[in-house]
Amino acid sequence: MSLLNLPPSFEFGVATSAFQIEGAWNEDGKGPSIWDTFGHTPGKVYNDIPGDVACDHYHRYSEDIELMKWLGLDSYRFSLSWSRIMPDGVGRINQKGLDFYRRLTDELLAAGITPNATLYHWDLPQALEDRGGWPNRDVADWFAEYASVAYDALGDRIGRWATVNEPISVWVGYALGAFAPGLHDERAGRAAMHNQMLAHGKAVQAFRAAGSPGEIGVVLDIWKRQPATDSAEDLALAAEGEDDGFRFFLDTLRGGGYSERIQARLEAEGTLPEIHDTDQEIIEAPVDYLGLNVYSRVVVNSKTHDGTGWAESDPPAGGNFLDDGSEFYPRAVYEALQMVRDDYGWSGPIYITENGLPDAPAAPGDDPLRDQERIRYVNGFLEWIDRAVAEGSDVRGYYLWSLMDNYEWGTGFSKKYGIVRVDPETQERTPKDSAHWYRDVIASHRAAQL
Ligand code: FCB
Repeated sequence: MSLLNLPPSFEFGVATSAFQIEGAWNEDGKGPSIWDTFGHTPGKVYNDIPGDVACDHYHRYSEDIELMKWLGLDSYRFSLSWSRIMPDGVGRINQKGLDFYRRLTDELLAAGITPNATLYHWDLPQALEDRGGWPNRDVADWFAEYASVAYDALGDRIGRWATVNEPISVWVGYALGAFAPGLHDERAGRAAMHNQMLAHGKAVQAFRAAGSPGEIGVVLDIWKRQPATDSAEDLALAAEGEDDGFRFFLDTLRGGGYSERIQARLEAEGTLPEIHDTDQEIIEAPVDYLGLNVYSRVVVNSKTHDGTGWAESDPPAGGNFLDDGSEFYPRAVYEALQMVRDDYGWSGPIYITENGLPDAPAAPGDDPLRDQERIRYVNGFLEWIDRAVAEGSDVRGYYLWSLMDNYEWGTGFSKKYGIVRVDPETQERTPKDSAHWYRDVIASHRAAQL
């Protein structure tokens, strides 16, 4: 593959998150997070196996950095565990927690790999959940306090920050019950979404106030909706899905506040969150880049029982499907880039902060290391990024999700996104075919610049 349009400075990376890989859930003074509690609650996660050990990265991080060196990565995106740094969420600082991130980032820098740290990837300290969690507006100040502690302690080592990863996750956690803390409360879910935006804004303001060097952004997941037909019902469903999934956040981040359509719907549902006059100004504090997680699109269909999928009578021409039955649609990344430019006037830097594919469902005799489908998938997305760059998008980097098989939230170890296989029993790491391929992509991009 040749990625002719990607500039020499284009960064290739991988992404992970703290809860999904670190393990050491109660070691060295770490407090529990909502995901620790959720995983220890019967019936919430796959096979009732919690993320206590995950990939044991807390102890094996050096070995993992060796893998990153072997891959030739430019950058590594990871997240900080709030309750490892502040076990009660606010107040007391756990020095041993900070030391872990110091060791990690020192070794990354020594390896020539740029650390990219996300402050929040879904693991709220349980102590703060006990005080009302994301639906409590105070969370914005709690988050800003934690962010300031992180900037102070690690700002000299970390040049790229993100505030929150995929804010829609709090809807899944507080309204749909599928993520921690597992509530089914739509009002709480909407309040959590707004409060997370407020928390984001306050953390950006704290970054500027601290005079921290480097750049700070926010990570959104963009699943554009494609109406299965052009019926009014399908169009309305598509609009609603985009509002909930990403426009809620982009509308307010990019100025102006929530659209009238969103406000009217939430008002009708009785779920409009408490919004103060000064909130908007805080939330739209300028960011240095946008992080976009793009995996595919969603075809919406008002006629099917779950509101998704093509009409059976009308299969998509030239449809391209993966082994697990989901659609292979690498153009999704191009459309996401167009959308932030055309609908939100964003012409600044962008990182594709996540993109990846779980292992295909295994048939007897399949070798999990032979993941050709993942190669095809990532290759497709990189080609569309290359094209967007040729047309003027300022995409500065790509982070493949994920470095290694890890704890995939409610589905535990059953969904494996790694380019490196991890044996959950022995913790042995083995590069899959896609890791060898990605290594070659990075090396040939470098060689092409010489
Ligand atoms: C993203 C999450 C990440 C992982 C991948 C598969 O939505 O940010 O933690 O679960 O999906």
